[in-house]
Amino acid sequence: MNINLWRRALARLHIFTKYLRMANNNSGFSSSFGAIMAAAGSAIGLGNIWRFPYICGKYGGGAAIIVYLLFVFLIGMVLLMSEFVIGRRTGHTPMKAYEELRPKHRNWRYVGLLGLITSFLILCIYFVISGWTLNYFWESVSGTLASIADGDFATHFAAFASSPVAPVVCLVIFAALTLVIILGGVQNGIEKVSKILMPILLVLVVLLCVRSLTLPGASKGLAYLFSPDFSQLTTEGVLAILGQSLFSLSVGMGVMIVYGSYLPKNDGIFKSAMWITVCDTAIAILAGVAIFPAVFASGQDPAGGPSLVFNVLPVVFNSMGQVGSMVFGGAFFLLLAVAALTSAISLLEALTAWGAEYGKKRSTSAILLSIILAALAVVAAYSYEGGLLNGFKPAGMSLFDWLDTLTGSYLPPICALLTIIFFGWFMKKEEIHDELSNHGVMKVAGFKVFYYFLVRFVAPVALIVCLVAPLIPAIKELIASIIS
Ligand code: PFF
Repeated sequence: MNINLWRRALARLHIFTKYLRMANNNSGFSSSFGAIMAAAGSAIGLGNIWRFPYICGKYGGGAAIIVYLLFVFLIGMVLLMSEFVIGRRTGHTPMKAYEELRPKHRNWRYVGLLGLITSFLILCIYFVISGWTLNYFWESVSGTLASIADGDFATHFAAFASSPVAPVVCLVIFAALTLVIILGGVQNGIEKVSKILMPILLVLVVLLCVRSLTLPGASKGLAYLFSPDFSQLTTEGVLAILGQSLFSLSVGMGVMIVYGSYLPKNDGIFKSAMWITVCDTAIAILAGVAIFPAVFASGQDPAGGPSLVFNVLPVVFNSMGQVGSMVFGGAFFLLLAVAALTSAISLLEALTAWGAEYGKKRSTSAILLSIILAALAVVAAYSYEGGLLNGFKPAGMSLFDWLDTLTGSYLPPICALLTIIFFGWFMKKEEIHDELSNHGVMKVAGFKVFYYFLVRFVAPVALIVCLVAPLIPAIKELIASIIS
């Protein structure tokens, strides 16, 4: 009996070590489809579902969507292609990639480091919010949310988010799930899981769209999302839309440099980037169609971010009756969790691959990073409104708010600007052409426009404007105070 137990334990240990060996074996993505699904998985995340629809609704509906399409295809996709070129050309993670491309200007590697730090901080906040999503998925399918009165959702969320145990348990489960997939390796973990999860995500969002559009009064929501109102398109709105287009494609942080290093050698970079941008944009628009008609049909006010997802939408699902709330609420929170998971995977992969390039085994790197990230995420969760550490406010903001502001507004455009300056002004034009054309095998029509017009001028200028414009009122005030 005892011997049998030992045997079983040894067999399990063997499976575990085999699994870890898989994690340490990295030969990149095996197919174009797998590569596109994995990168689209990174791009399609919480931002598509709770930020894009809200930003569009708030800043002029169809008008905002037109501006978004311009930004995402002319600037976001250009950055995506740049990161793919840098990654596939060198086969390295950001720091080493920059170093290899400009060996005499080694300081460029700090741009790579800044991107990795940004990815680290985004992942901390992603762990916290994704944990909340898991909890709400469970509360939907178990019928708990259906039993809450409409006016009580804000209190329910506040009580959950500030409790000392539940958010931590949820975030640890989510972090463990992300880690297990990374430990499966690039092909057997990330690629396989993305090929399964992305179609599920599409089915869920289409199901929710159909339900939302068949509700009486749905047209008001469609009008909010799509009818163009250029008077609402303020400078602040344009900047928010630009920021969203970068965040949504996961560019600037170097994550796509890492995924670029896994791209099959004969894949067309333009084609892959185009597919990823189209999928990301389509899901963002479908998310809007799934959310706003239902919000308006149930007489709610639209909102963005956590308030939309955790306070407004549960009321909408409750208006569909007990079963409706369980099915459609469950489908929605599952959609969010899946979107968050495939994005979290890409962030953890970028950090893991970086650790592996600096001498750690992939498995050790992934496990260590996950422990550190989860620990920091616990501190961030406790610093949320009403939490144990909410009183600790360096420079007037809680840790959660600091992470949210840094990763939401400042670090991604700074990293994106530095990346595009490197690509346009410091990387050799011949090398870019060589990589985009797969060493001369493919014709790259429009390369000159891409390179001179978009990469060297349009993208950097747009990013500089995006970074400087919010500072203008403060600068004006400073000048005024100096003069007077
Ligand atoms: N693109 C993701 C979203 O829209 O939510 C967020 C993200 C994932 C940003 C991965 C950066 C990243 F590297």
